[in-house]
Amino acid sequence: MSGRLEDKIAIVTGAGSGLGQASAKMFAAEGATVVCADVNGDAVTATVKDIAAAGGTATAVQAELSHEDEARHVTDVAVERYGRVDVVYACAGIAGAGTAADTSMEDWAHVIAVNLTSKWLSFKHTLPVMVAQGRGSVIVQASIGGIVGVPGIFPYAAAKGGCIAMVKQAAVDYGPLGVRVNAIAPGNIPTPLVYESYRNGGGMGAAYGVEEGLRRAAERFPLGRLGTPEENAYLATYIASDESSWTTGHVFVIDGGVTVP
Ligand SMILES: NC(=O)c1ccc[n+]([C@@H]2O[C@H](COP(=O)([O-])OP(=O)(O)OC[C@H]3O[C@@H](n4cnc5c(N)ncnc54)[C@H](O)[C@@H]3O)[C@@H](O)[C@H]2O)c1
Repeated sequence: MSGRLEDKIAIVTGAGSGLGQASAKMFAAEGATVVCADVNGDAVTATVKDIAAAGGTATAVQAELSHEDEARHVTDVAVERYGRVDVVYACAGIAGAGTAADTSMEDWAHVIAVNLTSKWLSFKHTLPVMVAQGRGSVIVQASIGGIVGVPGIFPYAAAKGGCIAMVKQAAVDYGPLGVRVNAIAPGNIPTPLVYESYRNGGGMGAAYGVEEGLRRAAERFPLGRLGTPEENAYLATYIASDESSWTTGHVFVIDGGVTVP
């Protein structure tokens, strides 16, 4: 690795698993000091141990990020411990299977709380810090489900579409103040979230079950396979770094070409 995030302080949410975990590790390997947040305390502690074992610097914070006081606490830890925040990668999320008619109010509220509200709360309290610094990069994890129709993920898609609108709005509000806000929209990357979605009838899971559904899904990707957490992490590292300094308000699709018309 080449120090692309040297001296940066980065918050990564959902760092206990999947894409957030891979990104937290890559950010640290690229020289960032990483505040790793997740509702799963054991998992995020394990991520931080792995980062330390690899020679990096990280702190674990257990937080339910759909609760504003806990989300604010993550920013507070970063500022109190390290004095600044250069990057927030709001990656934590959950699956959200269902259709418009069969989604209950309870499921809707939960999926929106975690996949949309928590994304906002993850950077809401960091924005004043970044504005005072005159710079910062916010990355919100959306999904191709927020851009194109995917069968059986109604509340999830609504939340991800909201993430994309939120990013564009925040980008125009905060660009003049030096803060960049971008979204990442991945296609399928097998993680616990995707397995749960397929088990509950999301994507091709409804017709074919988990393993066969994922195999058939992979065939639809022009590159012939699903993605990896590391491929997503390379993109997140680019947006976190100064290499992307003239980019804001955009949705970076990373999907093996599956949404190419
Ligand atoms: N894997 C994919 O194919 C894919 C595709 C598009 C978008 N995404 C998005 O990427 C993000 C990461 O997903 P993943 O696939 O790595 O899933 P994952 O299940 O592997 O990891 C999600 C992490 O978020 C944490 N989390 C869940 N709810 C939380 C909460 N309320 N507060 C704090 N932490 C919480 C979990 O404990 C877990 O560690 C999500 O926003 C997801 O919607 C994933």
